[in-house]
Amino acid sequence: MASSSGCRAWHCLLALFLLSSSAYGQLSPSFYAKSCPTLQLIVRATMIKALLAERRMGASLLRLHFHDCFVQGCDGSILLDDVGSFVGEKTAFPNVDSVRGYEVIDEIKKNVELLCPGIVSCADIAALAARDGTFLLGGPSWSVPLGRRDSTTASLTEANSDLPAPSLSLGLLIKAFDKKQLSPQDLTALSGAHTIGFSQCLNFRDHIYNGTNIDPAFATLRKRTCPAQAPNGDKNLAPFDVQTQLLFDNAYYRNLVAKRGLLNSDQVLFNGGSQDALVRQYVANPALFASDFVTAMIKMGNINPLTGTAGQIRRNCRVVNS
Ligand code: HEM
Repeated sequence: MASSSGCRAWHCLLALFLLSSSAYGQLSPSFYAKSCPTLQLIVRATMIKALLAERRMGASLLRLHFHDCFVQGCDGSILLDDVGSFVGEKTAFPNVDSVRGYEVIDEIKKNVELLCPGIVSCADIAALAARDGTFLLGGPSWSVPLGRRDSTTASLTEANSDLPAPSLSLGLLIKAFDKKQLSPQDLTALSGAHTIGFSQCLNFRDHIYNGTNIDPAFATLRKRTCPAQAPNGDKNLAPFDVQTQLLFDNAYYRNLVAKRGLLNSDQVLFNGGSQDALVRQYVANPALFASDFVTAMIKMGNINPLTGTAGQIRRNCRVVNS
């Protein structure tokens, strides 16, 4: 009796913790419940429209949120345009001619402003768009902790230093994620985002021509549209996932086991190193992947948010309020 009531008390405490905002840091899924009850509907509707025009946009917006969070935290800094003397992050090497979806964020923001003017941050819109992009392409859904505010600054330097490059070794990828308080397990789960979307040849050329841990038939296939000599074909696209390029499933990990990772940074997760066992688990258990992915997305979304009176709610996601 004593032990069972003790157990119930323990569950009760756990439930209280999960319901309290402390489980999400200072963010909370119900942050706009009163101030903008239609927010999630507006984001979902606008995302459906964007994906009907181009399915890939789901992938592009998932990536945009990642590139926001890894630089100064999830504060919408990636959305700021270079204007006058202001230098943003859009021209950073990992972002320029690569990150897509800024117009979709503009469209969502415009629609949200119509119903809830001055209430919702661009950083939160990016987090919701990433979730919807994942879900609308067949992936898991989750309650997005909200309440981030927008930065008045951006950092080109940090975008260049902290966004991981596709050439990185496993050790350096683990280090780059550790810098953001994300574990090797988070790294491996979040990399599963590469089950959707595309890469340009310049980012995987070295891996398909010089990589040693690659299926030769896969390398040959990719070489057909990615010529050896830069800058020839630099911008040519290849899908991350050979089989189901715009379906959010666990095929990414099956590809890794078959040595069909597109980027060097993908294949190093399965190369006889510390992440091999987890990759195999994600192959065998898609539900485990989905749940670890969601956990890691919430952790990533919690990197250094501006809350309370810090930062601002931008009226236009591209410029700091005057
Ligand atoms: C682990 C380190 C990572 C590296 C080195 C990396 C690198 C890259 C590169 C080079 C591209 C192709 C960009 C281009 O050619 O224009 C790409 C695309 C993409 N990345 Fe990552 N990435 C990483 C982690 C992540 C994470 C954590 C996410 C999200 C949770 C993510 C989501 C995506 C998506 C969805 C695309 C496809 C975008 C599209 O088709 O528009 N990546 N990534």
